[in-house]
Amino acid sequence: MKNDLTVRLRLIADLSRNYAVPESRIIDVGSDHGMLPVYCLKNGIFGRAVLTDINEAPAARSASAVADNCLSDRAEVICTDGLDGVELCRNDVVVMAGLGGNNIRDIIARLITRDGDILKDVTFILQPQKSIPELREYLAVSGFDIDDEECCFESGFYYCVLCVKYTGKPRGLTDREIYYGPVMLKKFGERREYKEFLDRVYGVRARGDKRIAKVLEEPYEQSNS
Ligand SMILES: C[S@@+](CC[C@H](N)C(=O)[O-])C[C@H]1O[C@@H](n2cnc3c(N)ncnc32)[C@H](O)[C@@H]1O
Repeated sequence: MKNDLTVRLRLIADLSRNYAVPESRIIDVGSDHGMLPVYCLKNGIFGRAVLTDINEAPAARSASAVADNCLSDRAEVICTDGLDGVELCRNDVVVMAGLGGNNIRDIIARLITRDGDILKDVTFILQPQKSIPELREYLAVSGFDIDDEECCFESGFYYCVLCVKYTGKPRGLTDREIYYGPVMLKKFGERREYKEFLDRVYGVRARGDKRIAKVLEEPYEQSNS
């Protein structure tokens, strides 16, 4: 069980570890197969877990993964939309991986209304499948700071993972930060292939999108290349 996560899930587990303290729970939203929280519990990254899924079949898969690994006393599986019905606690690490950016935005929007200040004591590890710039922009204007960003390559795709904290203070991002990521921009010296991948994707999109086209036209000094 030590090494059987995919590259993408392993990155998410490693980033989650950075925010875990002994009482932290991992709350895996859209858990499906349940592999991430099972790995985290079995490897001592977290002591407790909550797994949610909006659909019954994946929630049943999560429940089987928990039971098969004899973790039922430390993990709860709930069939629900996002975190509806789940009370957040201080130092929780909430993962939303493999969901669309707009879906993640909607789940987080409900939390801001519901939970307010407790969100300041929670970390969000987000791996949106799409609409990543839109999610970054939403998070910034809604009072979230991107604390860290990482990327990985798996089965022909690049994935981006955002580590996010709620401050309650909206902040502005430049268009370049929205598209490339405020933290990722500082890492492009070591993540050259990911930058080149994004340049190619945005180069195509720029043909029909003036906002991206403007970002690509602006001169840019890369700080640590
Ligand atoms: C592509 S799978 C990702 C599974 C896992 N998180 C991963 O990254 O490998 C997406 C899962 O999210 C669930 N899902 C989609 N929207 C959701 C929502 N609003 N709340 C909870 N689960 C959701 C789906 O049912 C599905 O099982």
